[in-house]
Amino acid sequence: MNIAVFVSGKGSNLQALIDASRAGALSATIAVVVTDARDAYACTRAEKAGIPVLYVDPGSYSAREDYDRELLKRLSPFRIHLVVLAGYMRILSPVFLRAYTHRILNVHPSLLPAFKGTDGVKDALRHGVKITGVTVHFVSETLDDGPIIAQVPVEVRGNDTAESLRERIHEAEHALYPRVIEECVRGYYTIEGRKVVRREGRA
Ligand code: GRF
Repeated sequence: MNIAVFVSGKGSNLQALIDASRAGALSATIAVVVTDARDAYACTRAEKAGIPVLYVDPGSYSAREDYDRELLKRLSPFRIHLVVLAGYMRILSPVFLRAYTHRILNVHPSLLPAFKGTDGVKDALRHGVKITGVTVHFVSETLDDGPIIAQVPVEVRGNDTAESLRERIHEAEHALYPRVIEECVRGYYTIEGRKVVRREGRA
């Protein structure tokens, strides 16, 4: 089974997936890394691992739908079964989402539905919550609102800065995301209504 990992930034989650794949903990093949940011360090990680990088320049498309149509066209030869967002900063349009219904995953640095959006870590600190965490969810047409697959808590400490908290959240992501992706690959999860049901052992 082929997966595509979508990135825009440092790519530490991509690295966790590459490592999991090398360790035999991820049975799917990372067939392509997709980016809207050619200079992102994530692209260097992909190249070092010998994974093709597919870059489509957002500057060349005024409409999100046109960008996504081009992406779909260029993704098609890779025969992708599952799309994994790992720090991808563009919002996917319905054109893309409908092509991969229930086959797009995202990792978010908070316990959703708390702290949606781009600043989950700082928002948690600002609100003084004592526990935050990580959520893996299916992507739907509403931002950070798709059916939740798995969550882990991360304690917020009194002396935490955004940096120290982000570091612990990243650690939690790197442990959780590859495991959940592997479970998705094995067909453990189905969506009923807006809930995800785990059917262990279906694989
Ligand atoms: C992660 O914290 C993830 O939760 C969020 O974007 C960040 C990506 O980090 N969606 P990295 O590029 O994988 O290091």
